[in-house]
Amino acid sequence: MSETILVAGGTGVLGRAVARRLLEPEREVRVLSRRPAPDGTAYAWRTGDLRTRQGIDAAVADADVIVHCATTLGGKDVATTRSLLDIARRHGEPHVVYISIVGVDRVPLPYYRAKLAAEEAVVASGLPWTILRATQFHDLLCRVVEVQRHLPAVLYPAGFRFQPVDAGEVAARLADLALHDPAGRAPDMGGREVRDFADLARSYLRHRGRRRVLVPVPLPGATARAYRAGHHLTPDTSGRTTFEEFLAAQAAIA
Ligand SMILES: NC(=O)c1ccc[n+]([C@@H]2O[C@H](COP(=O)([O-])OP(=O)(O)OC[C@H]3O[C@@H](n4cnc5c(N)ncnc54)[C@H](OP(=O)(O)O)[C@@H]3O)[C@@H](O)[C@H]2O)c1
Repeated sequence: MSETILVAGGTGVLGRAVARRLLEPEREVRVLSRRPAPDGTAYAWRTGDLRTRQGIDAAVADADVIVHCATTLGGKDVATTRSLLDIARRHGEPHVVYISIVGVDRVPLPYYRAKLAAEEAVVASGLPWTILRATQFHDLLCRVVEVQRHLPAVLYPAGFRFQPVDAGEVAARLADLALHDPAGRAPDMGGREVRDFADLARSYLRHRGRRRVLVPVPLPGATARAYRAGHHLTPDTSGRTTFEEFLAAQAAIA
């Protein structure tokens, strides 16, 4: 039987890799984006906006599976997830596969609180569901250093460790979950190494050929305490690609 899978957020770092993994001749893979279809796209493109709900009916109609990777900062993910679920329910009973983050229930960052509420909306939706929580992607940690490129030093939160994981490997796990029966809360996925942020930043700077002083900033508050306690880390170390392997692969592509 041919299958229709919608990847909401299929243009993002993770969603792009999920959509690519799912693409098969006998399968319709839809990508939902606010942007118009690029020329020659291999996907059944659906332009739509989860905030305004415009175009979402056409995106979810007859979908067997919805992989929800769409996100924005600023606490909107609960409302956009609810919109997606409401509209999906009107069109049938698709399996909803949602990507979340390790520690959303333990780190009181507003973005994480929104993700937790979005998880709860998925669970309460009445639709068959799967939720995968992953640790931070390699790309994200690179971006934290990169945004400071014009500063003479790199500031970083003192005492924070991370367990970066390859977005491509998370995408493979998510795509696999999308092709199987709903699994509920899937086992968390983390990278193979837990490293000090300073250590990762140094590695990134070395890779970019930059010399910068690293300045630890002691952060107050419950969120920083939760990060220092490692509540965003997982005992799972199934992500295989190290940060340095990721950087080397990026260099090879560039
Ligand atoms: N980054 C990490 O380290 C990490 C770790 C664990 C879990 N996650 C989770 O993984 C998911 C994907 O993260 P990412 O880093 O791949 O995100 P990203 O690169 O920022 O991509 C965000 C995606 O959301 C779409 N989007 C945003 N607002 C939308 C709207 N109103 N309507 C429709 N689509 C909208 C964007 O599509 P257009 O711009 O094309 O419209 C884009 O495809 C998120 O749920 C995130 O919480 C991320």
